[in-house]
Amino acid sequence: MKNSTVDDCKIIDIRRYTDSRGYLSVVENGIDIPFDIKRIYYLYMVPEVARGAHAHKELQQLLIATSGSVDVIMDDGQEKKTFHLDRPWKGLLIPSGLWRDLENFSGGAVLMCLASEGYDEKDYIRDYQEFLNYKKQ
Ligand code: TYD
Repeated sequence: MKNSTVDDCKIIDIRRYTDSRGYLSVVENGIDIPFDIKRIYYLYMVPEVARGAHAHKELQQLLIATSGSVDVIMDDGQEKKTFHLDRPWKGLLIPSGLWRDLENFSGGAVLMCLASEGYDEKDYIRDYQEFLNYKKQ
């Protein structure tokens, strides 16, 4: 989605079930998110560095800080919007065609990503100027 904007990013409340034994959250294909999950990966033991710094041409994602917190800065080439993920039931839905930077990982943070496609380096734009050109095309 070349014409996607930061306003197309959405925080969703992930279903949760709780009783005296604690909490359980679930994300299921066809029910909770607008794409089918093909891949899951997660970032953890991240030191004081920034990660991300890329866009995807096709990939859609749901990011969840299953532990700790992290800032996700979304950028459509015109506007930036920061999302603070700090609860295991809070998910950030990211459409394709947007630049993201991941910053301020707290100690012990785990950032899980549910992705609509398998890993494909050709889907990445890792150069910011190239991203700006892509959005203008
Ligand atoms: P990278 O894209 O640099 O991480 P991030 O942008 O989230 O900070 O990925 C780090 C390494 O992991 C890189 O060598 C590619 C590899 N990788 C895979 O092999 N499969 C995957 O699904 C992902 C997300 C990364």
